[in-house]
Amino acid sequence: MNMNTDQINLPNQHQPETRSVDAGLAHSLSEAQNSVPNRANGHARAVQDLARERAAAPFNGESVLILYGTVTGNSETLAKKLADALRPTGLTTRVRDMAHCQPNALTQANYLLVVASTYGDGEPPDDAAPFWQAVVHGNGLDLRGVRFSVLALGNTTYDHFCKCGRDFDAALERHGATRFYPRVDCDADYNRSAAAWINGVLRNLQQESFTAVSESLIRHGRFAEGLAAAERTRALDPLSVNAQIAVGTASLAAGLHDRAVEEFRQALAMGPATGAVRFHLGVTYIAMGRLSDAIRELEIATRSREDHQTRFEAILGHAYALAGRGHDARAILKELELHRAEQYVSSFGIALIHDALGEKALALAALRRAQTEHAVEFGLMTHYPPFRAIASDPGFRDVMRQLALPDERSTGGREQ
Ligand SMILES: Cc1cc2nc3c(=O)[nH]c(=O)nc-3n(C[C@H](O)[C@H](O)[C@H](O)COP(=O)(O)O)c2cc1C
Repeated sequence: MNMNTDQINLPNQHQPETRSVDAGLAHSLSEAQNSVPNRANGHARAVQDLARERAAAPFNGESVLILYGTVTGNSETLAKKLADALRPTGLTTRVRDMAHCQPNALTQANYLLVVASTYGDGEPPDDAAPFWQAVVHGNGLDLRGVRFSVLALGNTTYDHFCKCGRDFDAALERHGATRFYPRVDCDADYNRSAAAWINGVLRNLQQESFTAVSESLIRHGRFAEGLAAAERTRALDPLSVNAQIAVGTASLAAGLHDRAVEEFRQALAMGPATGAVRFHLGVTYIAMGRLSDAIRELEIATRSREDHQTRFEAILGHAYALAGRGHDARAILKELELHRAEQYVSSFGIALIHDALGEKALALAALRRAQTEHAVEFGLMTHYPPFRAIASDPGFRDVMRQLALPDERSTGGREQ
């Protein structure tokens, strides 16, 4: 593993705080590391599969960039604790101070973990200001495919609590990155919440690695094996919402709709990431032809604050169109097109709305645009409703062929 942690001496007055963070983290992280999937058998194979997945990953191997912005050293200390916690995973991890980074550094990793404090009138640490300006106010950064999470440090006695971290969180999403673990905002006594964030990030990274195995099997049309792999991942951590969601999406891919609904309902009962769960429930209901149920779930998803994504609106627009609510579908299209001016909005979802409206030429044009954008949705089409109006169009087949995707995957998963 390639560890490159910038060494900076912390001011003495902050050492007591650092020590108590150590104690809190040591407990939480040892708990997390005990759950590292080592129970051989099925997992040995999963690990081999994962290694193959990683070798073929677009970034040529999983890598993690931990970025911190600090004045008095708290963010830096936590960033390094996180790097230490990640060490046993074997992921290539770099820790960098924003003060010495250019925005394009963000495009160099699969996973981006930001730890940032807030100063002044809700501003970033002075040294980090140029980087913050470029990322928060700049355009043109393409972070599709990057997965991120933010730890925001602050103090509730100030007006703009944790604003710098909150701004980063919103900006990374605007540039097309995907939040894989929700932001945590920390008050002056941050030990417990920071430990919970590190713990959560660690668990989710581990689960994502194993979920990738299941998704790879599904991508290759091996739905039963994909579902079994997702179940193995869940068995490792039955309390993980993401692992639970993965069993639901694998069930959906296998065409087991009732089972998928049951799995997603269970995920809802588990708590966080409710927007994503409602989204998947909505997609499942669309597959079952239960459009009013789908619309209900997708409308809730679009209102989710903690894990909102523009794909929620897109699939809601698709469901409206299928339900004959063309006016509502077009209103969403208009909104998404407006958002495109300021943030990444995938053309894949736009293609799905046009498709459900029966606007074949517009659907194909948007699909081709999605292809040039390298839209991530092509990587797992079973997570989305199938194209219908354009499914038999030579233009659609052409795009599928160029992406090396069999046509039948566009029409939803089927058990083999
Ligand atoms: C002068 C000063 C201004 C601050 N302004 C804010 C603020 O506007 N909002 C906030 O949430 N926290 C504010 N804080 C709290 C810091 O963000 C918090 O102490 C944090 O843990 C510092 O992290 P660092 O050591 O990584 O810089 C401020 C602290 C100081 C000393």
